Amino acid sequence: MSEPKLGVSAEGIAKRYQHRIKGEVWAARDVDLAVQPGEFLTLLGPSGCGKTTVLRMIAGFEMPDTGRVLFGGRDVTTLPANQRDIGFVFQNYALFPHLTVFDNVAYGLRVRNKADAEIRRAVNDVLALVGLAGYEPQFSSQLSGGEQQRVALARAIVIQPGVLLFDEPLSNLDARLRVLMRHEIRSLQRRLGITTIYVTHDQEEAMAVSDRIVVMNQGRLVQVGSAEDLYLRPRSDFVARFIGRINSIEARVVAVDDAGVELMALGRRLRVPRPDMAVAEGQAVQLMIRPEALHATAADDAQAWPATVSNCSFLGEKIELHLDCAGQRLLLVRPGGAGAALPEGQALGVTADPAAMLLLPAQDKPS
Ligand SMILES: Nc1ncnc2c1ncn2[C@@H]1O[C@H](COP(=O)(O)OP(=O)(O)O)[C@@H](O)[C@H]1O
Ligand SMILES: [Mg+2]
Repeated sequence: MSEPKLGVSAEGIAKRYQHRIKGEVWAARDVDLAVQPGEFLTLLGPSGCGKTTVLRMIAGFEMPDTGRVLFGGRDVTTLPANQRDIGFVFQNYALFPHLTVFDNVAYGLRVRNKADAEIRRAVNDVLALVGLAGYEPQFSSQLSGGEQQRVALARAIVIQPGVLLFDEPLSNLDARLRVLMRHEIRSLQRRLGITTIYVTHDQEEAMAVSDRIVVMNQGRLVQVGSAEDLYLRPRSDFVARFIGRINSIEARVVAVDDAGVELMALGRRLRVPRPDMAVAEGQAVQLMIRPEALHATAADDAQAWPATVSNCSFLGEKIELHLDCAGQRLLLVRPGGAGAALPEGQALGVTADPAAMLLLPAQDKPS
């Protein structure tokens, strides 16, 4: 498989629907994307945020109301899906139940009038690639969910598309199989080097497979970056809370200088590095701290916030401590192991590395 890799871009695409109850709905708005050749890019966001709509416009199943879609620099906005160079894996697989595995996978090649010998070779190769060698004569209705998923994947890649598109391909599988399949999809994509756009609402899945993640909310792109970028440097409350878990502490700015910001938070004064956003003395802000960036110290630690354990969950490789700190609930996560769990009611001190503290604007309304 050595098709040239294609970059994909969307320039200001938008789609509006007439909804029976909600009236006019912008399913997608002002969407600008540039997917690099060979890149694995994921659209991530809550249900209804417009992920499928964007993917279907890129595939050519929907026509954008405004904007353009380009494949390898070529404008394909008005080109139907079957004339774009794509393989598409649907959430429900959309296999033909009355056809065998072989015929399901061969379908796209027959439509393209390939010779029988070539079809046989290509189908056998791709079935071996997805771990289904020998399954050729089975009917797809007789396969397990995981096997159907592999057939759907084989069918999408057998035509050697320049671009591979996935819409929540793992959501019908059980948790263990989802994790296994996401690694297989990722390693297959790496080996074939196909430019890939993947849709999921599952942040962990997105973080596990993607080169870059595009976070969407209410039809718009809100932040684009690697998993690490989004986790460590979220630029909004929405991204901070959607990617992983985070403690949000109400704080007030007491002083600002070139190097940093002094805050009052939970009754303590502390200093954090200067944030990206503008801050002024007296301003209310949110101090955001990831659970694993909080550390437990001695109850009499004068540098720490005093807290008590309200709940401790031993989860094997990690321990989750729910803490009460001056009436605020905090979550602290640390590695498991003997002696890591603490009893309810235990008093302790809580600290955090200033470099792991993030400032965001105060929220207007309680979430
Ligand atoms: N064919 C349609 N007709 C009317 N509204 C639609 C249609 N498709 C999607 N929508 C609306 O557009 C919004 C985005 O939908 P969708 O792209 O399916 O989101 P996601 O895939 O992120 O769950 C939702 O509010 C949905 O109800
Ligand atoms: Mg969807």
